[in-house]
Amino acid sequence: MSPYKTIETQDKSSDVVWHQASVSHLERVAANGHQGAVLWFTGLSGSGKSTVANAVDKMLHDLGCKSYVLDGDNVRHGLNGDLGFSDSDRVENIRRIGEVAKLFVDAGLLVSTAFISPFAADRQMVRHLLKDKPFIEVFIDTPLEVCEQRDPKGLYKKARAGEIKQFTGIDSAYESPKTPEIHVKTATQDVQQSAQQVVDYLRSKQLITQV
Ligand code: ADX
Repeated sequence: MSPYKTIETQDKSSDVVWHQASVSHLERVAANGHQGAVLWFTGLSGSGKSTVANAVDKMLHDLGCKSYVLDGDNVRHGLNGDLGFSDSDRVENIRRIGEVAKLFVDAGLLVSTAFISPFAADRQMVRHLLKDKPFIEVFIDTPLEVCEQRDPKGLYKKARAGEIKQFTGIDSAYESPKTPEIHVKTATQDVQQSAQQVVDYLRSKQLITQV
């Protein structure tokens, strides 16, 4: 049994039968002219996940691809508005986003997710969830000192002052990806270069052919 599925959710769905869609995934891919895939951005708060993910989204959109960004700060206002930052809430945050991302990929989109997603096991769980569909881990590797210096939302300052507890990198863990598909170092290249690196990867794997 998956550790991510509780007895309660299993019981609730045991009498529900999967409904086969009339339009297949392959038909959607053919209509879009590219594969569906998840670009799973992970990194510390302030590392640049959302910024790079949005720059990638813009490049893909301009190429005529169907793409979308699921952003941690935004999703936490709605779908995951009931979740905080305890370890178990972060696990549930990522589980839900994994499921949503899977639906986007089934719809044939290139979906970028921008969540800290600090735990390697959770990222691995989403990779498994996607089964044969591409899961591309994009490590936005920005040193803690740089994130803290940028501090775009003033949250590191608050965390250091003890006003925010369980802040990633301060008093909550971040497990860096060991073998990400894409390793982006934002401290040494600008946003456009980082976004281009991601789009180049998609081309190199022939997930997109648009030029
Ligand atoms: S995750 O760890 O569960 O993946 P997520 O990406 O959804 O985190 O949300 C992180 C964002 O929430 C940060 O960019 C920051 O703006 C805000 N935030 C508020 N409190 C915390 C906290 N304790 N730890 C990390 N981020 C926090």
